[in-house]
Amino acid sequence: MRYIDVSLLEPDMVLGRSLYGTNNERMLKKGQPIKLEYINRIKSLGFQGLYIKDGISDDLEIDDVVSQQIRMEAIGRLKDLFIFDEKKDHKHFEETLANINKTVGNMVTEIDGNRNAMINMMDLKIYDEYTFYHCVNVSIIAVAIGCGLGLSHQDLTQLGLAGMLHDIGKQRIPKAILEKEDNLTDEEFKELKKHPAYGYRMMRDCNNISPQVYLSILQHHERIDGSGYPHGKKGDDISLFARIIGVADCYDAIISKRPYHDPILPSDAIEYIMGGSGFLFDPEVVRVFLRKVSAYPVSMCVMLSNGVPAMVVKNFEDANTRPLVKLLKGDIKNPTYINLKDDPNAQNLTIVGVLNI
Ligand SMILES: [Fe+2]
Repeated sequence: MRYIDVSLLEPDMVLGRSLYGTNNERMLKKGQPIKLEYINRIKSLGFQGLYIKDGISDDLEIDDVVSQQIRMEAIGRLKDLFIFDEKKDHKHFEETLANINKTVGNMVTEIDGNRNAMINMMDLKIYDEYTFYHCVNVSIIAVAIGCGLGLSHQDLTQLGLAGMLHDIGKQRIPKAILEKEDNLTDEEFKELKKHPAYGYRMMRDCNNISPQVYLSILQHHERIDGSGYPHGKKGDDISLFARIIGVADCYDAIISKRPYHDPILPSDAIEYIMGGSGFLFDPEVVRVFLRKVSAYPVSMCVMLSNGVPAMVVKNFEDANTRPLVKLLKGDIKNPTYINLKDDPNAQNLTIVGVLNI
């Protein structure tokens, strides 16, 4: 099974994993050949990519840190929360919040029980529902970092909830600003920058939301050199949860397709985060992030420096740019594998690019 971009879908390709919509309904079943009409529907719904089965990747199983079912449940519940106005529908808002808390608890149990797994962040988002997919991804990455930092189960649940709700204040920002393709005017940017404070106030007034959660919502755009917003806080004056969510949020945002930018590769996004370590981002948080997120997710096709194409088979926490790869040449049924981390003969071999095949 491997991930491909929707632009590469062709009729009769076989689905490697069932495809779900955000109401948790199964749209297409695993193993099903994809007809042209389905391809058009998948594209019109705005899926960025999906998993297929083909002759070169049948031996690959992709391990999710969070099951598809819990991920879709979280997205569905978050959608509900964004619909309710917390003032007008306060009861429904609080009920949905309690449901989200339960889902986050299940999510944390899965991530905590799978501590050694790295996150294979492929863009499985539906374009029009970016906000919900993004918040769930941020929550998953944040909890994985929290695990690596040794946080307690209770703290991880609070961190997961904060990740899920970090952008809830965007509910109050006009869509015309959120989805604008051109650069924002100064006035519009000023308005956008109010979303952390809006979210903070919304959550502070809810039952059973801890100060840890609403403070990190307020501070998730603060940067440790003081260049962030809304208050220009520095270093440890920014809560640990906010420093973690800041990294997770930035990473998932730049690998995503948005109206105002094209996605960048996970490997480039990881370099960007590394580049900001120590002035934008907390270096300890970045150190753990680098162990948890793969630069070259499993099933990605890459070009090696010797001119041979290869597919990523496994990642290693302590060398996230040096995966185990399978060469895509010669006898595909008896492939040659190269461990870029441990094979001494591969020391001079590097990944020089990503192949969209
Ligand atoms: Fe935000």
